[in-house]
Amino acid sequence: MARSFHITTFGCQMNERDSDSISQILVDKGYRQTESIDDADIILINTCAVRQKAEEKALTHIGRLSRVKRKRPDLIAGIIGCVAQERGIDLFERFPYLDLVLGPRNIYHLGKFLSQIKEGRRRISSLDLASDPTSVPKCNGYLKGRVKSFLKIMEGCDNFCTYCIVPFVRGREVSLPAERIIDEAKYLVSQGIKEITLVGQNVNSYNTKNKALPTFPGLLRSLDSIAGLERLRFTTSHPKDLSDELIDLFAELKSLCPHIHLPVQSGSNKVLRLMNRRYTRDDYTDLIRRLRKTRPDIAITSDMMVGFPGETERDFEDSLGLIETIEFDSLFSFKYSERPGIMALQLPGKIKEKEKQTRLSILQDRQRGITLSKNRSLEGTLQEILVEGPARRGDSQLTGRTLGNKVVNFPSRTDLKGRLVRVRIVQGLQNSLRGELLDRQD
Ligand code: SAH
Ligand code: SF4
Ligand code: F3S
Repeated sequence: MARSFHITTFGCQMNERDSDSISQILVDKGYRQTESIDDADIILINTCAVRQKAEEKALTHIGRLSRVKRKRPDLIAGIIGCVAQERGIDLFERFPYLDLVLGPRNIYHLGKFLSQIKEGRRRISSLDLASDPTSVPKCNGYLKGRVKSFLKIMEGCDNFCTYCIVPFVRGREVSLPAERIIDEAKYLVSQGIKEITLVGQNVNSYNTKNKALPTFPGLLRSLDSIAGLERLRFTTSHPKDLSDELIDLFAELKSLCPHIHLPVQSGSNKVLRLMNRRYTRDDYTDLIRRLRKTRPDIAITSDMMVGFPGETERDFEDSLGLIETIEFDSLFSFKYSERPGIMALQLPGKIKEKEKQTRLSILQDRQRGITLSKNRSLEGTLQEILVEGPARRGDSQLTGRTLGNKVVNFPSRTDLKGRLVRVRIVQGLQNSLRGELLDRQD
């Protein structure tokens, strides 16, 4: 029987894509993926360091490996991703049974490290932030059965928002070559993938440093012309780099879905300045106005943070006011969390944990109402759904997403996975929509 690996993934879409790449490397080496850690020969944990809670979760998970490793000392246990980069070789002190610590930019050499472990080396780390991140493997075989996929177009970030650890754990921004991205997109489509989401920390600045190369709109145009690619999405965009040319593409490209995730972080100009976001509240609302003018049905989602140092009651009110004005389709919101090395550590006016919690609850409460009324406003409409498979709750429900990326569950007697179907929305709920399949699908 082939040797097997198990991989657990925390964090953002970049990590999900990285885990896919790692899985591909291992599959190419003859390993098979297993769902159970009890029979895996290699166990990997891909970690996130963006907030303290995420990091604690990763560390708890690593701690649990000790039991498995004691029973089966031959298995290879590795930590990869952003916590691996942040904590580095200190992880070997705290978790002596670890064999491998790889930062996000060094995962592509996994094959080489496995050979070294087989030769008897232990405690291998690779943490060079200047490593070339462009040798992303093309994902194939094990994707079978999926209908959508992430495709990485860049690595790293140069923005240095003052709260954020990402530039320190993923290094400087590097764009991947366009030919390679287009080639992989074609390959994914040939493997049955219908929807591709381009991922990067700031996709709008793709190739902006080299004028001779295609920019992000250029890349989107090339991808849009790939036959068989039904849906194209991207994440994440930084408001400061969202160009008119890109906005126009929402009306122009047939495969580009009417959804944008555009993190705003705060509704207060003072806080935005302290965060080094380099746009104002008005700049942001103006972008939203232009997006909606170009594509009236566009779904807009965002990230917001409460309790950033110096955030007064009034600043917080500005954030509440902004979400009421814009009415996001959905919003991810977080309490500001201190991270090692970030610039915000030096700012005065720390907010107490209890106050952060109060503000978060108020914000989430308001947004819940907005999300629900947005979802209800879709009742009675017809929506195109890309069917992803059976809904989690079993019975005979299928699940998929609208063009605006909302989850729709609907009953069906036949398996329609991978198909684009039309449904009528019968009910808008808090986190999803209920639909009914239209009889005629022509
Ligand atoms: N590159 C993306 C995503 C970065 S991380 C972007 O720029 O939008 C995803 C979200 O986590 C951020 O948008 C922010 O809202 C949140 N986040 C980042 N650092 C944080 C911190 N120190 N505390 C709390 N939330 C944080
Ligand atoms: Fe972090 Fe800002 Fe870069 Fe996003 S743009 S990854 S929030 S530094
Ligand atoms: Fe987390 Fe790293 Fe993504 S810190 S949010 S997994 S870039």
